[in-house]
Amino acid sequence: MSTFQAPKGTYDLTPPRSATFLAVREAISAPLRDSGYGYIETPGFENVELFARGVGESTDIVTKEMYTLTTKGGDQLALRPEGTASVLRAALEGNLHKAGNLPVKLWYSGSYYRYERPQAGRYRHFSQVGAEAIGTEDPVLDAELIILADQAYRSLGLREFRILLNSLGDKECRPAYREALQSFLRDLDLDEETRRRIEINPLRVLDDKRAEVQKQLAGAPKLRDHLCDPCKAYHEEVRALLTAAGVAFEDDEKLVRGLDYYTRTTFEFVHDGLGSQSAVGGGGRYDGLSEMIGGPELPSVGWALGVDRTVLALEAEGVELDLPATTSVYAVPLGEEARRVLFGVVTELRRAGIAADFAFGGRGLKGAMKSANRSGARYTLVAGERDLAEGVVQLKDMESGEQTAVPLAEAAAELAKR
Ligand code: HAM
Repeated sequence: MSTFQAPKGTYDLTPPRSATFLAVREAISAPLRDSGYGYIETPGFENVELFARGVGESTDIVTKEMYTLTTKGGDQLALRPEGTASVLRAALEGNLHKAGNLPVKLWYSGSYYRYERPQAGRYRHFSQVGAEAIGTEDPVLDAELIILADQAYRSLGLREFRILLNSLGDKECRPAYREALQSFLRDLDLDEETRRRIEINPLRVLDDKRAEVQKQLAGAPKLRDHLCDPCKAYHEEVRALLTAAGVAFEDDEKLVRGLDYYTRTTFEFVHDGLGSQSAVGGGGRYDGLSEMIGGPELPSVGWALGVDRTVLALEAEGVELDLPATTSVYAVPLGEEARRVLFGVVTELRRAGIAADFAFGGRGLKGAMKSANRSGARYTLVAGERDLAEGVVQLKDMESGEQTAVPLAEAAAELAKR
């Protein structure tokens, strides 16, 4: 193994591709920031208990995929595998829900860790931008979040994504459905592990990707037929609001999600250009999570969009983000004296808010001009001894190729004007 290799299932973000990641985070969070969501940041690790109780003891995330550790002080911690439990924990700890201003609307952006089998689009360290609206049961809020995610993807230029929508029922109607499903599943020809899953989390069995399992599931009882009237009405309202907003979605009664806290509305954003890891984002309502982690009743809804997969989706669709060059002016000094003088001009430009960079290391004209080109700068400033003797710098417009001598004292002002 090379010393310079990132750990399995991880990768580094380096320029220029890293600029796309920043732009994606910016594009996903912009609609949230414009809609009353405040920024929250929580630690990269939590007590392992939070995820065990919140995400669910029966989920793959908790049983197989958590990075857990015991500190020297004996605390049992886990690198966060997702954001929802942490954000809710932080809201409860900070009493944000008691400020008389429900829902508490929060957005976040950060790194998450899951010990999964790495493949294209699936990593052990990945990045999400997420949103949580805590403390209110209102179908408008569910619709708002789905509409904002749709808006974010569209603002990036993505077109080939689909929204899958389902309702998982609530604590009134799901238990009866669960039992009906369990007694159906127990009669099927299934392996040991799947049999165990029937007892712990039967809905997950519906999600089994294997053809021989899917074939047997044909006559399984449907959650849709078991939803109680309030859940049905709630779901119809969310659907109507999305339709009214012109946001297309597909009803997908097989959509289960890999976390246990969901109730009622669940949804996933899938992109068809990504192969098997097609979910670019997902979320839903989690009316019982607060109580599951020891808090008061706080019906909530949220989503998280995967930044890595969103970037892959952009690449799959061939979308080139319009990223403006970060450098506007590139200074090329020829000689010691020019180095001091031009660095002074660069500092002046930067203080005036003009993005400027410099050919460091006393390089020759040819190499320095190559760097100037690569920087994407619109203008270069070149100065040698003769220019300085005349009190000028050469200002070159890299687009037109036109070059003019500008008095040194006016260089910064001239560039500001342009
Ligand atoms: P999730 O579906 O587990 O939901 O993750 C959301 C998104 O994160 C996925 O759709 C995917 O794009 C990305 N993602 C997940 N795992 C990986 C991985 N191993 N590699 C690359 N990308 C990945 C949640 O995390 C919930 N907390 C969402 C939520 C918020 N529900 C309510 N509020």
